[in-house]
Amino acid sequence: MTGLFITLEGGDGAGKTTQASALEAWLIEQGRVVVRTREPGGTEFGVEVREIVLHSRGDISPRAEALLYAADRAHHIATKVRPALERDEIVVQDRYLDSSVAYQGAGRVLDAGEIRDLSLWAAEGLLPDLTVLLDLDEDRARERLDSANKRFDRLEAEKSDFHRRVRAAFLELAAAEPGRFLVVDASLPPDEIAAVILERVAPLL
Ligand code: TYD
Repeated sequence: MTGLFITLEGGDGAGKTTQASALEAWLIEQGRVVVRTREPGGTEFGVEVREIVLHSRGDISPRAEALLYAADRAHHIATKVRPALERDEIVVQDRYLDSSVAYQGAGRVLDAGEIRDLSLWAAEGLLPDLTVLLDLDEDRARERLDSANKRFDRLEAEKSDFHRRVRAAFLELAAAEPGRFLVVDASLPPDEIAAVILERVAPLL
């Protein structure tokens, strides 16, 4: 595969969508073909899974939740991401397997290694070339979500202790794979964050 696979990770409210848009616009300016996508919900099947996993009215057990994210991932990678990379395109993706390790592993307290293995099985071993972690203090993230004034989904509605564990897990993942991760302080102004990301992406092109 010759394309480039870039994922953005971080807690809810960290600003991933803003940064993914900025990165996409810059890559297009460079003349590259970009596939902008996300998990959960990057495919038609994924949209249905997303609805269940984020908005199910009933309870979902932790392992069932992990399998739903993995099912979304398996279909998304097989039908959208891998084909794009094989066409030499750049995939800019909001969330990937690190979200599962952080949210289902540390958040729901499942075994992190098992969650990672499940994701890798689902994605036939595909790892990103670069993962941008937008790191934001839990309280700041909550303020942003509150001021956005939208209805919380099942994960966003979790207590602050859950989000603290998720943040710590993301930072641990980044520390374990410094070659794959770029950690950015998400409390910086958006254009400064974008500049840090571009500096890291430019040499990869
Ligand atoms: P996201 O699309 O970032 O939410 P929003 O559109 O509200 O910004 O992510 C949806 C939620 O799913 C988010 O709270 C994190 C969670 N999630 C997991 O728990 N595990 C996963 O593997 C993924 C991909 C997301």
